[in-house]
Amino acid sequence: MDPIIKIDHVYYRYEKDIVLHDIDLTIPEGAFLAIVGPNGSGKSTLLKLLLGLLKLQNGNISLFGQDISKFKDWQQIGYVSQKANSFNTGFPATVFEVVASGLTKKIGMFKFFQKAHAEKVMSALASVGMTAFSNRNIGELSGGQQQRVFIARALVSDPRVLILDEPTVGVDAENVNSFYQMLNELNKKAGITLLLVTHDIGTISEKVSHVACLNKKLYFHGDINEFEQMRMEEMSKFYGHDVQLISHQHEHGGVLS
Ligand SMILES: Nc1ncnc2c1ncn2[C@@H]1O[C@H](COP(=O)(O)OP(=O)(O)O)[C@@H](O)[C@H]1O
Ligand SMILES: [Mg+2]
Repeated sequence: MDPIIKIDHVYYRYEKDIVLHDIDLTIPEGAFLAIVGPNGSGKSTLLKLLLGLLKLQNGNISLFGQDISKFKDWQQIGYVSQKANSFNTGFPATVFEVVASGLTKKIGMFKFFQKAHAEKVMSALASVGMTAFSNRNIGELSGGQQQRVFIARALVSDPRVLILDEPTVGVDAENVNSFYQMLNELNKKAGITLLLVTHDIGTISEKVSHVACLNKKLYFHGDINEFEQMRMEEMSKFYGHDVQLISHQHEHGGVLS
């Protein structure tokens, strides 16, 4: 089976500054990939290239086995941008309307809003746990609730991939866990491939299947077990002994010799 996304030897520069250097990354269907890296490390640029929002300068990207220059089926890819969390809270629209606006392309084909569309909106809201809020004004909701609504808007056209750029920035600390739990369910139950830029790698490591560490170059890419192993090795280099062994002995109440 073709990987959902395949990135080969991708470089990108804004004027003189190279912000992506020789990136290779393959994302299989069903993955939940966290992309981590410091500010300015090229994370949003990489997502914009995947979404065709920036033009590829060097290298190749294929989506669903097709070269990105020929790819047309953008409804397969849902996207919530980093800007979504600075949404104008005075915007006069209900939650239902915001989610329904994600159907514009589909409705274009039918010319009018049908019962089936309303059902799609409600089912997208249900998948992010926001059914009860459908008639509320978007501006009255908390940052975390708004973010769920934007995810529902991205989900309403039934994409196979969902791309989220720092979705927890506006989410209160106590709601971050349930937010990730909701993403986990979209991945596990609905089978949606997820790509997420995040700083919460500690919180999220039990939920994701793969991690990519980006700082202009791709410093690491692997499944979550390889990532934990790498972190452990870095820690033991730092502390000068085997961290894994110590924590294991502690578990059994052992005394360090
Ligand atoms: N439109 C742009 N023009 C020029 N430089 C940009 C532009 N967008 C981003 N950059 C620069 O490219 C680098 C990577 O940006 P970005 O991909 O947004 O990083 P991240 O999302 O990891 O914080 C940063 O140094 C940023 O200032
Ligand atoms: Mg960014």
